[in-house]
Amino acid sequence: MRTLQDIPALREVLGECRRRGQRIGLVPTMGNLHEGHLALVAAARRRADVVVATVFVNPLQFGPNEDLDAYPRTLADDQAKLEAAGCDLLFTPSVATLYPRGLNDQTRVCVPGVSEGLCGGSRPGHFDGVSTVVSILFNLVQPDVACFGEKDYQQLAVIRKLVDDLHFPIEIVGVPIERADDGLALSSRNGYLDEAERATAPELQRTLAMLREKLEAGEPVDATLAAGLTRLREAGFVPDYLELRAADLGPVSATTREAVLLTAARLGTTRLIDNLTLTLP
Ligand code: PAJ
Repeated sequence: MRTLQDIPALREVLGECRRRGQRIGLVPTMGNLHEGHLALVAAARRRADVVVATVFVNPLQFGPNEDLDAYPRTLADDQAKLEAAGCDLLFTPSVATLYPRGLNDQTRVCVPGVSEGLCGGSRPGHFDGVSTVVSILFNLVQPDVACFGEKDYQQLAVIRKLVDDLHFPIEIVGVPIERADDGLALSSRNGYLDEAERATAPELQRTLAMLREKLEAGEPVDATLAAGLTRLREAGFVPDYLELRAADLGPVSATTREAVLLTAARLGTTRLIDNLTLTLP
């Protein structure tokens, strides 16, 4: 696996691949890789001849009081994992390489509608930062296919709309959530949890599973979600939101069948997110 930091080198290598008629697959990440990220690499591997991963902790998607500085940077480890997973090329640009004018003067991409509410409500500007960096990466790599995790359900919906609205000729693949044995969705942020918090964390997933059972049995939505919030608070979480949406993130109506439960909740200073799809009766 080759690691490249600069745009001209990346363009040259990928230009060569394209001339050979190879299909290019992209897996954007912020590093500190775990089995969730590696599942995306495997999904890209199955769909492309050349797999490109990116590791870039994107300052544009962090709020002023978020964990940009603390975000774990583990490049040597990430390189070893990517290599073992069959990644061909790793792009690790600096902030100055992607945003040479500086963050304030950077052209931004905004995806209205689907980026509002949920994580977009509790993290203002977050999805503009994601849409901007992903658009840049799409332009630099020009992949045929790009893989994103269903763990970040709203992010995946934002990327699908971005690709549609900007007419990127890229197939977007959603990859199911990888979980620890106790059900906790794998996340780079799980490393912030202390031992007691780590023991509590799977309660987020267990609560969603309990709510799914009730909702699929036809119990009323509002009372069920209220019970879910109470259970999360009793376990020690401070919930940002707990919502039921249609699978496309639109509002739930009487005719909605495919739906999704989404939550974000803080445990101490760590913000965890999770979701679970379900079928309403
Ligand atoms: P990051 O949090 O590093 O996640 C990179 C990709 O891995 C995302 O598509 C995310 O949904 C996926 N992922 C994370 N945990 C997962 C899990 N447990 N199971 C399956 N997939 C999982 O998401 C970002 O980075 C950034 O916002 C990015 C898209 C790279 C733009 O900066």
